[in-house]
Amino acid sequence: MCGIAGYVGSLEAASVLLVALERLKYRGYDSAGIAVLDEDDELVVEKSEGRLTELQARVDGQAVRGCCGIAHTRWATHGGPTTENAHPHGDSDERIAVVHNGIIENHEQLRKELLADGCIFRSQTDSEVIPHLLAGSGKEDMLDAVISILPRLEGAYAFGVVSELFTDRIVAVRQGSPLLLGRGDGHVMLASDIPALLPHAHEVCMLDDGQIVDIQGSEIQLYNSEGEKIEAVFKAIEVTAEAVSKGDYDSFMAKEIAEQPEIFSRLLESRVTGGRLDVGDFGVDLSKINHVVFLACGTSWHAALLGKRFLEQLARIHVEVDISSEYRYRNPVASGDTLVIPISQSGETADTLAGLRLARSMFMPVVSLVNVMDSTIARESDGIMPLMAGPEIGVASTKAYTTQVLALYLFAMQMARAKGRLDLSVEQKMLAEISHLPELTASTLVDAEESVVDAMELFSAAQATVFLGRGGEHATAMEGALKLKEIAYVHAMGYPAGEFKHGPIALVTEALPVVCMVPQDHMYEKMLSNLEEVRARAGRIISVGFKGDNKLRSLSDFCFPVAQSPIPELQPLLSILPLQRYAYHVARRRGCDVDQPRNLAKSVTVE
Ligand code: F6R
Repeated sequence: MCGIAGYVGSLEAASVLLVALERLKYRGYDSAGIAVLDEDDELVVEKSEGRLTELQARVDGQAVRGCCGIAHTRWATHGGPTTENAHPHGDSDERIAVVHNGIIENHEQLRKELLADGCIFRSQTDSEVIPHLLAGSGKEDMLDAVISILPRLEGAYAFGVVSELFTDRIVAVRQGSPLLLGRGDGHVMLASDIPALLPHAHEVCMLDDGQIVDIQGSEIQLYNSEGEKIEAVFKAIEVTAEAVSKGDYDSFMAKEIAEQPEIFSRLLESRVTGGRLDVGDFGVDLSKINHVVFLACGTSWHAALLGKRFLEQLARIHVEVDISSEYRYRNPVASGDTLVIPISQSGETADTLAGLRLARSMFMPVVSLVNVMDSTIARESDGIMPLMAGPEIGVASTKAYTTQVLALYLFAMQMARAKGRLDLSVEQKMLAEISHLPELTASTLVDAEESVVDAMELFSAAQATVFLGRGGEHATAMEGALKLKEIAYVHAMGYPAGEFKHGPIALVTEALPVVCMVPQDHMYEKMLSNLEEVRARAGRIISVGFKGDNKLRSLSDFCFPVAQSPIPELQPLLSILPLQRYAYHVARRRGCDVDQPRNLAKSVTVE
């Protein structure tokens, strides 16, 4: 996790870098820091624990001047979230400053050696070994110093270095953690992610593992891991500054929830050509695939649970859903007719990436479902299904989740067609039905709002909430519970409704809100029985069911109305919408920061 940035150009580096950090803070936000080379080539370092606003206040007060600098926003791994542990870190003489994203796994051993050599450590971080190694490298040139220490570092990292000995110069390396190079008119930038390059860079170059970049003024030179010069290949940045701003919304989460109807329209438009589905050619013959393994974490794992149902139902193939951090440490069985599908919004999740690499090492084809197209997962896959949900910045995933669900359904249709299980007329009928989803999403968001707010008024102080669902709605229950946990800090669990009586029902009291997912499908009566069981024990019911289901309404304390999906399997895509809004309102009422929940980061690039 953590975000790093660098700038060399004609503007005040501090102001450019603070904007970059604002765009990177989704990667971690427990402390932040900046180092700028001033006009006399002296390093001015400012750091602060707490939110970025703390650093902004310090920098404003200090008038940090200079056109070359590096910056960092932190998600603590080694050492608490204190000012001392905030980056940049320096060598003993404080003439070198380093920002680092990743983990130096052999830092303890290195620290021991460096301490024995008389180095002065000022933090508990693993990262601080880097400036000390550089200072002790015996190399006069900064690039030589960086190249010389790389063999000593174990782990995953991206880091950037500035030194008082070199005017307008940054050297940076990528090994396992993302690092991008941007350029615009008179500006060169480095960052962990594209939004942080805006608005000054118009073109981006993605560094590969092992690559080193030496920026001197406006000159850029890229090197491979052997230290040989290579050409930096740039392409235009397509993301706009508008797409990464909140616009008129109070939070990114609110904006991203509202964007869902438009995103679905865009996805459908791009995947349907001449009335036929076309999710792309991944270089894999789907007709030969008899087994699919999904790899994902968190919310993406919930989407994978639905993907399994879609593929089993439509293509009748065997599907496994693995949590990436479990898969990577098992000894999974490989077979030639297995397709591995990692699902990741960020495309950088360390465990999912490791699972992907394990699958590829066993020669299984890998087709990823990713939102960030230039991410490591996208680049290391045999094929990609792009989500096209646009940048998701709120830490709680909302629009990426529902778009994953829709994309997985389209993929399952394509797989069914390849398997000879979907004829043209059925496909066209299904596509016509699916085309109504954007408008149904928009109307559900409007219709459910009032009852969501009413329920929030009553239950925002509840200590815990249980979510129950069956079939695909079990995934919705887990996703609804995760949203409430992560942004409102309410203990919540999503449970298969049929299992509730086997233990968790003991939790029910009049203080426990129980959210029941009750669409009118073949499980309707069974869900009503669950609801009655909770009512009989004085539990409080929030139901999520079809608009106009008066029976359900009469049995519930609150009913969140949702539109009926023309494709029943896609009902979870609509059912989750009021639960996203519920978590958002409860969090706000409890005074929580919905975009930056405590202890979390958007991109989980460490194990
Ligand atoms: C929850 C959330 C996380 C992510 C998980 C995987 O709202 O955002 O649970 O879903 O960290 O992230 P990606 O999809 O980027 O691999």
